[in-house]
Amino acid sequence: MAKYFFPNGFHWGAATASYQIEGSPEADGKGESIWDRFSRSPGRIWENDTGDIACDHYRRYQEDVTLMGSIGLNAYRFSIAWPRIFPAGGGRPNESGLDFYRRLVDALQQQNIKAAATLYHWDLPQTLQDKGGWRNRDTARYFAEYAAYLFEKLDLPIDLWITVNEPWVIAYMGHAFGVHAPGDTDFGTALKVGHNLLLGHGLAVKAFRKAKRGPEKIGITLNLAPIHPNSDSEADLEAARRSDGFMNRWYLDPLFKGSYPQDLAEILARRFEMPQSEKEDAAIIAEPIDFLGINNYTRVLVESTGMADDFMGNPVNPPDREYTEMGWEVYPDALFELLTRVHRDYGPIPLYVTENGAAFDDELGVGGAVNDPRRINYLQGYLLACWRAIEEGVPLNGYYVWTLLDNFEWAFGYSKRFGLIYVDYPSQKRYLKKSALWYKEVISRNGLDI
Ligand code: FCB
Repeated sequence: MAKYFFPNGFHWGAATASYQIEGSPEADGKGESIWDRFSRSPGRIWENDTGDIACDHYRRYQEDVTLMGSIGLNAYRFSIAWPRIFPAGGGRPNESGLDFYRRLVDALQQQNIKAAATLYHWDLPQTLQDKGGWRNRDTARYFAEYAAYLFEKLDLPIDLWITVNEPWVIAYMGHAFGVHAPGDTDFGTALKVGHNLLLGHGLAVKAFRKAKRGPEKIGITLNLAPIHPNSDSEADLEAARRSDGFMNRWYLDPLFKGSYPQDLAEILARRFEMPQSEKEDAAIIAEPIDFLGINNYTRVLVESTGMADDFMGNPVNPPDREYTEMGWEVYPDALFELLTRVHRDYGPIPLYVTENGAAFDDELGVGGAVNDPRRINYLQGYLLACWRAIEEGVPLNGYYVWTLLDNFEWAFGYSKRFGLIYVDYPSQKRYLKKSALWYKEVISRNGLDI
């Protein structure tokens, strides 16, 4: 048995997002979000599932926080639904929406669980979408106003504020590939959306500094993945470099270096209309942050498409590897590679793994047992990768499992179970999976015992 201890004060967390768990889409004055609209549009979501009920967390949050306490989590990442706070995006705020998050954070405090609040995990007020959504620059300003309101009014301690969750996914899944809300399919739009999200992030960081919330910290969460070439051929190496530019550097560079990566900007400009960037944008986007949140699940293996101005490559899935129910390769080393690379190329900046986890076909067994050895194996491998990165000097301060509870997995509806806790949707009963009990032990010894 080897022991791998983590630093004192390490965040042992789990993460969720408002639309995926809350339900109660109209409660207490909440406005419609683009996910309410999208999931109710026939054919968009697996079996036409919606988040109308989800995990009913809006009403069962107290029970859920108690479960977090029983696992021993010392941190919890959740997101705030913008249309609960500003039902129409801007204008008049809705105090009773804010009260929900006050009750939640208060319950967390009573269990000594630190709060990590994401301001935007994809549920844009529909009213703003009707005015162009994120392709409209004004949305960045509305976002900063919403953020400033929370910095002023959420009078409970929030350890980490995360402005935007995964701008890449919002831009491309929502606006180029059309599989997420609002379902657009235009690359130029996606590029604009990406830019305005970064702008909104920077403006929110500025508002945060103004609000002077003591020791609290602000950052952003990016979905990042190492990109590997499928062979040593120059074409595959180049495909991997470009794909890395497209997936990773396109967001990291403007945040930490003040400009988009030149190599990719040239390629994109030959094919699409580039977003209009005002003179001040670069500095706003690069406004210094306190930490970077990283979501990572896998690596990406690519081969060249042979097309001149291609920047994504063809994904390759070798048959002899293990995959999760999402079809994502189990590749723990990805996280080590990523953490050390981000530290080397963009540090020093404190890092948090704000999401990592796996979907498997879990089944509720007799007596409520849910045996999920593959998830335990997955989490253990990735946590060991975190430990190795810390040993190499990477300032990694916490790890949040995706996710606390089985929930609405976007276009996949309820067909994918990522939770540490099994949710029986018809009864809304929760059952701790074996992985939750395993995680509890890891947390209690502040490390792995392998
Ligand atoms: C991430 C999302 C999160 C969840 C996981 C599986 O892209 O941030 O909401 O869907 O993937």
